Amino acid sequence: MAGSSQTAHWSSRWTFIMAAVGSAVGLGNIWKFPYEAGQGGGGAFVLIYLFFVFVVGTPILVAELSLGRRGQKSPIGSMAKIAKEEGRSPLWALVGWSGVLGAVIVLSFYSVIGGWTMSYFFEAISGTFTGMDAAAAGGHFSGLLSNEYAVIGWHAAFMALTMFIVARGVEGGLEKAVTYLMPALFILLIGLAIYSSIVGDIGATVDFLFKPDFSKINLDVALQALGQSFFSLSLALGSIMTYGAYMQRNVNIGKSAVIIASADTGVAIMAGLMIFPIVFAYGLVPGQGPGLIFATLPIAFGQMSGGAFVGGAFFFLLVVAAVTSAISLLEPSVAYVTEKTGVERKKIALIIGGFIFSMGVLSGLSQGDNVIAEISIFGRSILDAKDFLTNNIMMPIGGMFSAIFVGWFVSRKNMMEELAMTDSTFRVWYFLVRYVCPVAVGAVFVSIIYNTITAG
Ligand code: TRP
Repeated sequence: MAGSSQTAHWSSRWTFIMAAVGSAVGLGNIWKFPYEAGQGGGGAFVLIYLFFVFVVGTPILVAELSLGRRGQKSPIGSMAKIAKEEGRSPLWALVGWSGVLGAVIVLSFYSVIGGWTMSYFFEAISGTFTGMDAAAAGGHFSGLLSNEYAVIGWHAAFMALTMFIVARGVEGGLEKAVTYLMPALFILLIGLAIYSSIVGDIGATVDFLFKPDFSKINLDVALQALGQSFFSLSLALGSIMTYGAYMQRNVNIGKSAVIIASADTGVAIMAGLMIFPIVFAYGLVPGQGPGLIFATLPIAFGQMSGGAFVGGAFFFLLVVAAVTSAISLLEPSVAYVTEKTGVERKKIALIIGGFIFSMGVLSGLSQGDNVIAEISIFGRSILDAKDFLTNNIMMPIGGMFSAIFVGWFVSRKNMMEELAMTDSTFRVWYFLVRYVCPVAVGAVFVSIIYNTITAG
C-alpha cells in the first residue's frame, strides 16, 4: 500500500475475502461471542444474534463495502465525496468520523485483550497449564490481570505488531499471512471443537446454545445481540468501508458479503461448541463474563496429552485472528490522516498507534487490582465503558446511518451499478437497507429509552 492509500488494491478476490474475513473473525468470535451468549442465556441470545447477522448486518456489510468502493478513500473521505456527488449535506461525513474515532476507541481496549492472548500463548507452550484444575485456572487469570507490568507489556507488544503490519502496508505481509492463517484457524477450531465435545459435556452445550429459552429474551439481550452482530462483522467503524476502497471493481459485493458473514458466524458457533462443553463438564459458570475463555481453556489444555502444543497452537492462531482484526481497526485512521496530510504511512501508523497504546493503558489497568480499577463510569470499569459506548451506542447508530444513507440518499441507479446484482436480489437488499435495518435498529433503541424512562 505504497504512497497514497486510495490507489492500492487487493491483488485478487480471494485476498480481499481473506482480509475481510480476517477483520471480521477475531476476539469478537472466540472471546466475546461465547461469554455474551453465556450471559444472555444461551439459545435466546444465539437466535436473536443470527437474525441480526443475516437480516440487518449483512445488508449493512453490503452497504459499507459499496460506499468504500465507490468513494475510493478513507471512510471520512468516501462519505464526504459520495455525499457531494449525490448533492447531499456534507454532514454525512460524520458517519465516517464516528467510525474512525470508534475504531480508535475499540482498538484501545482490543489491544489489551490481544495482549492477554499473547501472554497465554507463551504460557501454553511453556507448559504452565499442565494439570490445572478449574480453581487454578481462574486464579491464574486474575493473577495476570493484577500484574500491571505483564498487562501493559503484552498490550505494548500487541500494538507494536499491529503498527508494524499497518506501517508496511497491506500488500507487504498481511495479504500473504491471512490467506494461509485464516484457513489454518478454521481447521484448528474444528479440531478443538471435536476434542472438547468428546471430553466435555456436548449434550448440555447443545441444549444451552440451540434450545432457546424464550423467557430469557428481553431488550437488553436484544441490544447486546445487535451490538455483537455489528462488532463481529466489523461494521460501522470504518474497517469494512476502508477495505471496500481497496477492492477491485470486478469483485461481486453481495456474494462476498454472504461469504464473509457466513464464515464469521461459523467461527463464532464453533467457538461456542469448543468452549461450553468444557464449561459444563467442569461446573464453570457460562455467564461469568469476559474471563470465560481464559478461565476455561487452560483446564482442557492442561489435561490433554500434547496440551502444550495444542494450547500453544490455539492461542497462536487466536493472536493471529486478533491481529488481523486489529489492523483493520488501525487502518481507517491511518488511511484518513495519510490522505489528509500526505505524510508517510510509516510515521502516521507509529504516531496513531502510539496514541492508541497510551489510551489503552487505562483499559488494561482497569481490570486489575489497583486505583484505576476502582474508577466506575455508570457502574462500569473503563474497559467495559468503552466497550459499551462503542458496541451498544456508536455501532448501532453508525450502522443505521450507513443503511439510511445508501437506502435513501444515494441514487438507486448508482447503487444498482455498484452492486451489479440480479434484479430480484437487489430488490430484497434494497428493501432491507431502506426499511428493515433502520426500523430494527431504531426499535431496539426506542424501547431501551422508553424502558429507562418508565423504569426511572
Ligand atoms: N470484528 C472483529 C472481531 O470480531 C473486531 C473488529 C475489527 C471490529 N474491526 C472492527 C469491530 C470494526 C467493530 C468495527 O474481533
